[in-house]
Amino acid sequence: MVTGGLGYIGSHTVVELLQAGFNVIIADNLSNADIFILSRIQEITKREPVFLEIDLCDYEATQTIFQQYKIDAVIHFAALKSVSESVANPLFYYQNNLGSLMNVLLSMKKYRVRNIVFSSSATVYGEPDKLPVTENSPFKKALSAYGSTKQMGEEILESSAANGFADIIVLRYFNPVGAHESALIGELPRGIPNNLMPFITQTGVGKREKLTVFGDDYNTADGTCIRDFIHVVDLAKAHVLATERLLNRKYESAFEIFNLGTGNGFSVMQLINAFQRVTGTTLNYQIGGRRAGDIECIYADASKANRILKWKAELGLDEMIRSAWKWENSI
Ligand code: WQD
Repeated sequence: MVTGGLGYIGSHTVVELLQAGFNVIIADNLSNADIFILSRIQEITKREPVFLEIDLCDYEATQTIFQQYKIDAVIHFAALKSVSESVANPLFYYQNNLGSLMNVLLSMKKYRVRNIVFSSSATVYGEPDKLPVTENSPFKKALSAYGSTKQMGEEILESSAANGFADIIVLRYFNPVGAHESALIGELPRGIPNNLMPFITQTGVGKREKLTVFGDDYNTADGTCIRDFIHVVDLAKAHVLATERLLNRKYESAFEIFNLGTGNGFSVMQLINAFQRVTGTTLNYQIGGRRAGDIECIYADASKANRILKWKAELGLDEMIRSAWKWENSI
């Protein structure tokens, strides 16, 4: 079962799972996803996943899925993910992100489903003391309710593993960007995008007038923040490997964590320049003030995933931009 399976990372993961031969049940409440993505998944894979429009905050409804289907593993994407919205309405974020996780775990316990892969985020590291960040880097105080739901989610899962009823792989994503090569699925931000890549591509096609670079006075080579951008298809493939690791009982402990990034940091200005080079489009941008809560520089040490999960990011920055641009031009 893939929760949030019609969302951005979820839909790309469903495609990879179907292509790897898994049968997939998608549970999604469509709060931040569009139903046409389901037919796009079918178009790419020529397969039909089961689709359930269900709100996982509803305990009865969640249990019913486990009652009706024999589930071998859960990949839990379903969550709200806007940092700014979570600052404005923190209780909504705790209720949604933790309530749905609890309902999934309680149902797993009741119906003896052991395996779960959890979507976490590099946001748990806050502003790191040492770079690159490894899985052992400590949590820093979260700057948003969104970030603390990811930290608390990991803690709830660690307790579940310690309690012996679940085997868990936590995947900490750095900055997912790009789209499927078919341009049939990709990121679909509602309203004004918060994230850099969709803002760039929307400005490039003229949906937005101008991109504002949030600060060029950071302590980095060009003064703009540095991130580890990772292609969403690479990310999706890691979920297939993590699921197989759980199903084949190959894990070393019942609670494992992997960073998913390329290991390379690129600055905001480097991304803008690469976008202009790759697409041949001049981007209208201006330098603005810093955005509250932004981390200066973060990139992954992904060697644990390379070594143990046998996963490596294969697609580089140009491919991330090319696919995001192709998708933007198709919607
Ligand atoms: C990247 C850089 C901005 C927009 C956030 C969440 C994280 C994860 C992904 C997932 C920063 C700069 C951005 C713009 C800009 N959440 N920027 N102008 O902040 O690294 O991570 O999204 O669901 O948990 O914290 O990603 O893409 O928002 O920003 O200059 O219009 O781009 O300041 O330096 P971030 P981002």
